Amino acid sequence: MENQQDAVRKKRVLSLIQPTSVPTLGNYLGALKNWKDMSDEYDCVFGVADLHALTVRPEPAALRRQSAEMFALLIALGLDPEKSIVFIQSHVHTHAELSWILNCYTQFGEAARMTQFKEKSQKHSDNINIGLFAYPTLMAADILIYQSDLVPVGADQKQHLELARNIAERFNGIYGNVFTVPEPFIGKKGAKVMSLQDPTSKMSKSDTNPKASVSVLDTPDVIVKKFKSAVTDSEAVVRYADGKDGINNLMTIYSCCTGLDYDAIERDFSGKGYGDFKAAVAEAVIEELRPLRENYEKIIGDKAYIASLAAKGAEFALRVSSRTLGKVKKKVGLYLADK
Ligand code: TYM
Repeated sequence: MENQQDAVRKKRVLSLIQPTSVPTLGNYLGALKNWKDMSDEYDCVFGVADLHALTVRPEPAALRRQSAEMFALLIALGLDPEKSIVFIQSHVHTHAELSWILNCYTQFGEAARMTQFKEKSQKHSDNINIGLFAYPTLMAADILIYQSDLVPVGADQKQHLELARNIAERFNGIYGNVFTVPEPFIGKKGAKVMSLQDPTSKMSKSDTNPKASVSVLDTPDVIVKKFKSAVTDSEAVVRYADGKDGINNLMTIYSCCTGLDYDAIERDFSGKGYGDFKAAVAEAVIEELRPLRENYEKIIGDKAYIASLAAKGAEFALRVSSRTLGKVKKKVGLYLADK
């Protein structure tokens, strides 16, 4: 990767995911599937955002276990740790250091406008901590420290990406070209997978209703049951239209898994009922997730293997990210004793 960087630099792609629980089909179709697809063509950096997860004070043993499991999932996804940087955020101290510096280049008002901050403050009203407020500047540090060009995320992260761009432009305006200004990469379909029980709200890892979301590790029979009970409408016609949020969501999921467009899906299911369609969606999801689940089952028992890949990823990430951090420290006037 470093030689490539010196010759013709491939575009760099970066994204992270929080280890709050097993990712949902929403995380998969909105983000992880694109990560895998981009990893051949681009120079990629993918990570587990465990520091971000601290903002809602998770149970320590659960956070530790879920961080290792999420890292294993990224490997099971087929990301090649020899080619891409795959790491756990807290293993790479440069991120937290840069995020402090970026805090000093971010306005209070900008951070206060973030929708996710407002939503999470409401949801966790007993713990509105400064980490929750500064969440987007840590995310900006994750992105900017690798000089990332493209950031594949779901639609819910777009506002954070815009803030990262604003911070980069502001910093560059003061100190010259220090950061690459990143572009969001938001897939046309799958950017917002909705809850199966309330298709007007996004599918979320933290939903308390287990039928609302599909986890990427759900077994085939569980997936079939969840789609069977998905909320639809009374029209009984498979078509994409306003007011048919449940069917629209199922069509989006089916389209992402099969590559068929909405017209083709409407044709294929014309004259058929929702029961047939739900069964087909479940089948497509099962096949889409099968390799991930099977690979995961093969490696999750091998703790030493996972730990060794995580250590290697952290070393790689530290080496690359330290270059930007060194440059930033110099620019802002920190005294570097080794220079
Ligand atoms: P997180 O862990 O909430 O979600 C991980 C990714 O999944 C996407 N996503 C969805 N996409 C479609 N439909 C849904 N229902 C759905 N739910 C979640 C998210 O948009 C995200 O891409 N702040 C980030 C993690 C992060 C990060 C970064 C991302 C930390 N640093 C730097 C990019 C760059 C987050 O909470 O993702």
